[in-house]
Amino acid sequence: MSGGFSLSDALPTGNNPPPGAPPPHGWLLGDQPPPPGGFPGHPGPPGAYPGGPGPYPGGPGPHPGPPGAFPGGPGPHHAPGQPPSGPGFGPPPPHAGPAPPMPACARVFSSGCGFLLTPNPCCLQKVPFELPLQKGLVPRMSIIITGTVNHNPSRFALDFKRGSDIAFHFNPRFKEDGGKKVIVCNSMIRNNWGKEERMAPRFPFEAGKPFKIQILCEADHFKVAVNDAHLLQYSFREKKLNEITKLCISGDIILTSVTPTMM
Ligand code: GAL
Repeated sequence: MSGGFSLSDALPTGNNPPPGAPPPHGWLLGDQPPPPGGFPGHPGPPGAYPGGPGPYPGGPGPHPGPPGAFPGGPGPHHAPGQPPSGPGFGPPPPHAGPAPPMPACARVFSSGCGFLLTPNPCCLQKVPFELPLQKGLVPRMSIIITGTVNHNPSRFALDFKRGSDIAFHFNPRFKEDGGKKVIVCNSMIRNNWGKEERMAPRFPFEAGKPFKIQILCEADHFKVAVNDAHLLQYSFREKKLNEITKLCISGDIILTSVTPTMM
Protein backbone atom coordinates (compact mmCIF):
# COMPACT_ATOMS: atom_id res chain seq x y z
CA MET A 1 0.00 0.00 0.00
CA SER A 2 1.19 3.50 -0.64
CA GLY A 3 1.94 5.74 2.33
CA GLY A 4 3.68 2.96 4.16
CA PHE A 5 0.49 1.59 5.64
CA SER A 6 0.21 -2.11 5.97
CA LEU A 7 -2.78 -4.07 7.02
CA SER A 8 -0.99 -5.41 10.02
CA ASP A 9 -0.74 -1.82 11.28
CA ALA A 10 -4.48 -1.64 11.44
CA LEU A 11 -5.16 -4.99 12.93
CA PRO A 12 -5.01 -6.22 16.46
CA THR A 13 -1.93 -7.92 17.71
CA GLY A 14 -3.45 -9.26 20.87
CA ASN A 15 -5.36 -12.02 19.14
CA ASN A 16 -2.48 -14.02 17.84
CA PRO A 17 -2.54 -17.68 18.65
CA PRO A 18 -0.19 -19.11 21.18
CA PRO A 19 3.09 -20.38 19.74
CA GLY A 20 2.61 -23.66 17.99
CA ALA A 21 -1.14 -23.29 17.55
CA PRO A 22 -2.32 -23.78 14.00
CA PRO A 23 -3.44 -20.56 12.39
CA PRO A 24 -7.17 -20.41 11.98
CA HIS A 25 -8.50 -20.61 8.50
CA GLY A 26 -9.01 -17.16 7.06
CA TRP A 27 -5.97 -15.69 8.74
CA LEU A 28 -5.01 -12.47 7.02
CA LEU A 29 -2.37 -11.00 9.25
CA GLY A 30 1.31 -10.38 8.73
CA ASP A 31 3.12 -12.97 6.71
CA GLN A 32 0.47 -15.59 7.07
CA PRO A 33 -0.66 -16.86 3.72
CA PRO A 34 -4.30 -16.30 3.00
CA PRO A 35 -6.57 -19.26 2.58
CA PRO A 36 -7.31 -20.57 -0.86
CA GLY A 37 -10.62 -19.68 -2.34
CA GLY A 38 -13.40 -17.89 -0.57
CA PHE A 39 -15.29 -18.99 2.47
CA PRO A 40 -15.47 -22.73 2.26
CA GLY A 41 -17.10 -23.00 5.62
CA HIS A 42 -19.83 -20.52 4.97
CA PRO A 43 -23.18 -22.20 5.36
CA GLY A 44 -24.69 -20.66 2.27
CA PRO A 45 -26.50 -22.78 -0.24
CA PRO A 46 -24.68 -23.45 -3.48
CA GLY A 47 -24.92 -20.47 -5.75
CA ALA A 48 -26.32 -18.22 -3.04
CA TYR A 49 -23.88 -15.48 -3.93
CA PRO A 50 -23.15 -15.39 -7.61
CA GLY A 51 -19.67 -14.14 -8.22
CA GLY A 52 -18.56 -11.84 -10.95
CA PRO A 53 -16.69 -8.62 -10.97
CA GLY A 54 -18.79 -6.88 -8.32
CA PRO A 55 -19.95 -3.32 -7.99
CA TYR A 56 -16.78 -1.52 -6.98
CA PRO A 57 -14.06 -0.63 -9.46
CA GLY A 58 -10.46 -0.89 -8.39
CA GLY A 59 -7.71 -3.37 -8.74
CA PRO A 60 -6.09 -5.66 -6.28
CA GLY A 61 -3.46 -4.21 -4.01
CA PRO A 62 -0.52 -6.00 -2.49
CA HIS A 63 -2.92 -7.94 -0.34
CA PRO A 64 -5.41 -10.09 -2.12
CA GLY A 65 -8.79 -8.48 -1.98
CA PRO A 66 -11.83 -9.97 -0.37
CA PRO A 67 -14.16 -12.13 -2.34
CA GLY A 68 -17.09 -10.93 -4.31
CA ALA A 69 -18.12 -7.35 -4.49
CA PHE A 70 -14.64 -5.93 -4.34
CA PRO A 71 -12.72 -7.16 -7.37
CA GLY A 72 -9.40 -8.82 -6.88
CA GLY A 73 -10.64 -11.15 -4.23
CA PRO A 74 -10.08 -14.82 -4.07
CA GLY A 75 -13.65 -15.80 -4.71
CA PRO A 76 -17.20 -15.72 -3.46
CA HIS A 77 -19.00 -17.97 -1.08
CA HIS A 78 -19.33 -21.44 -2.36
CA ALA A 79 -20.66 -24.65 -1.09
CA PRO A 80 -18.36 -26.75 1.08
CA GLY A 81 -16.20 -28.97 -1.06
CA GLN A 82 -16.85 -27.01 -4.21
CA PRO A 83 -14.07 -24.86 -5.55
CA PRO A 84 -14.97 -21.30 -6.45
CA SER A 85 -15.29 -20.61 -10.13
CA GLY A 86 -15.77 -17.73 -12.51
CA PRO A 87 -13.86 -14.57 -13.23
CA GLY A 88 -11.71 -13.33 -10.41
CA PHE A 89 -12.10 -16.49 -8.39
CA GLY A 90 -9.77 -19.25 -7.47
CA PRO A 91 -6.72 -19.17 -5.26
CA PRO A 92 -5.15 -15.79 -4.52
CA PRO A 93 -1.66 -14.99 -5.74
CA PRO A 94 1.17 -16.67 -3.86
CA HIS A 95 1.89 -14.75 -0.71
CA ALA A 96 4.24 -16.43 1.69
CA GLY A 97 4.18 -20.10 1.01
CA PRO A 98 1.53 -22.74 1.03
CA ALA A 99 -1.85 -22.22 2.61
CA PRO A 100 -2.08 -23.21 6.25
CA PRO A 101 -3.79 -26.45 7.13
CA MET A 102 -7.46 -25.91 7.68
CA PRO A 103 -8.42 -26.91 11.19
CA ALA A 104 -11.61 -28.87 11.56
CA CYS A 105 -12.93 -26.26 13.91
CA ALA A 106 -11.09 -22.97 13.95
CA ARG A 107 -10.40 -21.36 17.27
CA VAL A 108 -11.93 -18.05 18.08
CA PHE A 109 -9.42 -15.87 19.85
CA SER A 110 -10.64 -13.72 22.67
CA SER A 111 -12.04 -10.22 22.29
CA GLY A 112 -12.64 -10.41 18.59
CA CYS A 113 -10.37 -10.97 15.68
CA GLY A 114 -10.04 -10.83 11.97
CA PHE A 115 -10.22 -14.52 11.37
CA LEU A 116 -12.66 -16.86 9.91
CA LEU A 117 -14.41 -18.02 12.99
CA THR A 118 -15.32 -21.50 11.95
CA PRO A 119 -16.03 -23.80 9.11
CA ASN A 120 -17.95 -25.93 11.55
CA PRO A 121 -21.28 -25.10 13.20
CA CYS A 122 -19.88 -26.25 16.53
CA CYS A 123 -18.20 -22.92 16.94
CA LEU A 124 -20.29 -20.43 15.08
CA GLN A 125 -19.69 -17.20 16.90
CA LYS A 126 -22.43 -15.65 18.94
CA VAL A 127 -22.81 -11.91 19.07
CA PRO A 128 -22.12 -9.33 20.46
CA PHE A 129 -18.73 -9.53 18.86
CA GLU A 130 -15.98 -6.94 18.85
CA LEU A 131 -13.20 -6.49 16.33
CA PRO A 132 -10.45 -4.16 17.55
CA LEU A 133 -8.85 -2.15 14.73
CA GLN A 134 -5.60 -1.22 16.34
CA LYS A 135 -4.73 1.81 14.26
CA GLY A 136 -8.22 2.63 13.19
CA LEU A 137 -9.70 2.74 9.75
CA VAL A 138 -7.94 3.88 6.62
CA PRO A 139 -9.22 4.45 3.09
CA ARG A 140 -9.31 1.23 1.05
CA MET A 141 -9.69 -0.90 4.11
CA SER A 142 -12.48 -3.37 3.74
CA ILE A 143 -14.14 -5.63 6.25
CA ILE A 144 -16.18 -8.62 5.21
CA ILE A 145 -18.68 -10.04 7.63
CA THR A 146 -20.42 -13.30 6.94
CA GLY A 147 -23.08 -14.89 9.05
CA THR A 148 -26.63 -16.09 9.18
CA VAL A 149 -29.70 -14.20 10.28
CA ASN A 150 -31.51 -15.80 13.21
CA HIS A 151 -35.01 -17.11 12.87
CA ASN A 152 -37.59 -14.52 13.83
CA PRO A 153 -35.11 -11.65 13.91
CA SER A 154 -35.84 -8.17 15.09
CA ARG A 155 -32.63 -6.33 14.23
CA PHE A 156 -28.89 -6.42 14.09
CA ALA A 157 -26.23 -3.75 13.90
CA LEU A 158 -22.67 -3.09 12.88
CA ASP A 159 -21.17 -0.20 14.82
CA PHE A 160 -17.86 1.38 13.91
CA LYS A 161 -16.85 3.11 17.10
CA ARG A 162 -14.61 5.97 18.05
CA GLY A 163 -14.45 5.67 21.81
CA SER A 164 -18.07 5.64 22.89
CA ASP A 165 -19.18 7.50 19.78
CA ILE A 166 -20.53 5.49 16.88
CA ALA A 167 -19.09 6.77 13.64
CA PHE A 168 -21.20 4.45 11.51
CA HIS A 169 -24.24 2.48 12.68
CA PHE A 170 -25.54 0.06 10.05
CA ASN A 171 -28.80 -1.31 11.36
CA PRO A 172 -31.10 -3.63 9.46
CA ARG A 173 -34.51 -3.78 11.17
CA PHE A 174 -36.88 -6.60 10.30
CA LYS A 175 -40.03 -5.45 12.07
CA GLU A 176 -40.19 -1.74 12.40
CA ASP A 177 -43.66 -0.49 13.34
CA GLY A 178 -45.02 -3.96 13.41
CA GLY A 179 -43.51 -5.34 10.25
CA LYS A 180 -41.64 -2.98 7.97
CA LYS A 181 -38.14 -3.92 6.95
CA VAL A 182 -35.73 -1.05 6.79
CA ILE A 183 -32.03 -0.35 6.99
CA VAL A 184 -31.18 2.56 9.25
CA CYS A 185 -27.77 4.22 9.12
CA ASN A 186 -26.73 6.85 11.61
CA SER A 187 -23.97 8.14 13.88
CA MET A 188 -24.02 8.74 17.60
CA ILE A 189 -21.85 11.57 18.83
CA ARG A 190 -21.62 12.33 22.56
CA ASN A 191 -24.60 10.09 23.22
CA ASN A 192 -26.84 11.80 20.67
CA TRP A 193 -28.07 10.08 17.57
CA GLY A 194 -27.90 12.20 14.43
CA LYS A 195 -30.25 12.23 11.49
CA GLU A 196 -31.13 8.76 10.29
CA GLU A 197 -30.43 7.76 6.70
CA ARG A 198 -32.95 5.28 5.34
CA MET A 199 -32.14 5.31 1.69
CA ALA A 200 -31.25 1.68 1.03
CA PRO A 201 -33.09 0.71 -2.15
CA ARG A 202 -33.77 -2.82 -0.96
CA PHE A 203 -33.62 -5.03 2.12
CA PRO A 204 -31.31 -7.93 1.30
CA PHE A 205 -31.50 -9.86 4.58
CA GLU A 206 -33.85 -12.74 5.33
CA ALA A 207 -34.63 -14.69 8.48
CA GLY A 208 -32.61 -17.89 8.63
CA LYS A 209 -30.52 -17.03 5.57
CA PRO A 210 -26.76 -16.53 5.26
CA PHE A 211 -25.40 -13.18 4.23
CA LYS A 212 -22.15 -11.49 3.35
CA ILE A 213 -21.68 -7.82 4.13
CA GLN A 214 -18.69 -5.93 2.77
CA ILE A 215 -17.90 -2.54 4.20
CA LEU A 216 -15.35 -0.59 2.19
CA CYS A 217 -13.87 2.53 3.72
CA GLU A 218 -13.34 5.13 1.00
CA ALA A 219 -11.83 8.64 1.26
CA ASP A 220 -14.98 10.26 2.57
CA HIS A 221 -17.63 7.57 2.85
CA PHE A 222 -18.32 3.95 3.56
CA LYS A 223 -19.62 1.71 0.82
CA VAL A 224 -21.74 -1.25 1.80
CA ALA A 225 -22.32 -4.27 -0.41
CA VAL A 226 -24.48 -7.20 0.60
CA ASN A 227 -24.24 -10.60 -1.07
CA ASP A 228 -21.88 -9.16 -3.68
CA ALA A 229 -24.12 -6.27 -4.74
CA HIS A 230 -23.67 -2.64 -3.80
CA LEU A 231 -26.35 -1.51 -1.37
CA LEU A 232 -25.62 1.97 -0.06
CA GLN A 233 -23.02 4.46 0.93
CA TYR A 234 -22.72 6.59 4.03
CA SER A 235 -20.74 9.84 4.10
CA PHE A 236 -18.38 10.22 7.01
CA ARG A 237 -19.68 12.39 9.81
CA GLU A 238 -16.74 11.39 11.99
CA LYS A 239 -13.66 12.14 9.93
CA LYS A 240 -10.91 11.01 12.30
CA LEU A 241 -10.67 7.59 10.74
CA ASN A 242 -7.61 6.58 12.70
CA GLU A 243 -9.62 6.97 15.90
CA ILE A 244 -12.33 4.58 14.77
CA THR A 245 -10.76 1.61 16.44
CA LYS A 246 -13.54 -0.86 17.00
CA LEU A 247 -16.21 -2.70 15.05
CA CYS A 248 -18.99 -4.02 17.24
CA ILE A 249 -21.49 -6.49 15.85
CA SER A 250 -24.67 -7.16 17.75
CA GLY A 251 -28.22 -8.37 17.32
CA ASP A 252 -30.08 -11.30 15.84
CA ILE A 253 -27.41 -13.01 13.81
CA ILE A 254 -24.77 -15.69 14.13
CA LEU A 255 -21.38 -14.77 12.79
CA THR A 256 -19.27 -16.99 10.60
CA SER A 257 -16.36 -14.73 9.75
CA VAL A 258 -15.09 -11.20 10.15
CA THR A 259 -12.24 -10.46 7.76
CA PRO A 260 -10.49 -7.11 7.43
CA THR A 261 -8.27 -6.62 4.43
CA MET A 262 -6.79 -3.89 2.26
CA MET A 263 -7.90 -3.27 -1.29
C1 GAL B 1 -32.68 4.36 17.85
C2 GAL B 1 -32.31 2.98 18.35
C3 GAL B 1 -30.80 2.83 18.28
C4 GAL B 1 -30.30 3.16 16.90
C5 GAL B 1 -30.81 4.51 16.48
C6 GAL B 1 -30.39 4.87 15.07
O1 GAL B 1 -34.07 4.50 17.81
O2 GAL B 1 -32.72 2.84 19.68
O3 GAL B 1 -30.45 1.50 18.63
O4 GAL B 1 -30.70 2.16 16.00
O5 GAL B 1 -32.22 4.55 16.54
O6 GAL B 1 -30.90 6.10 14.67
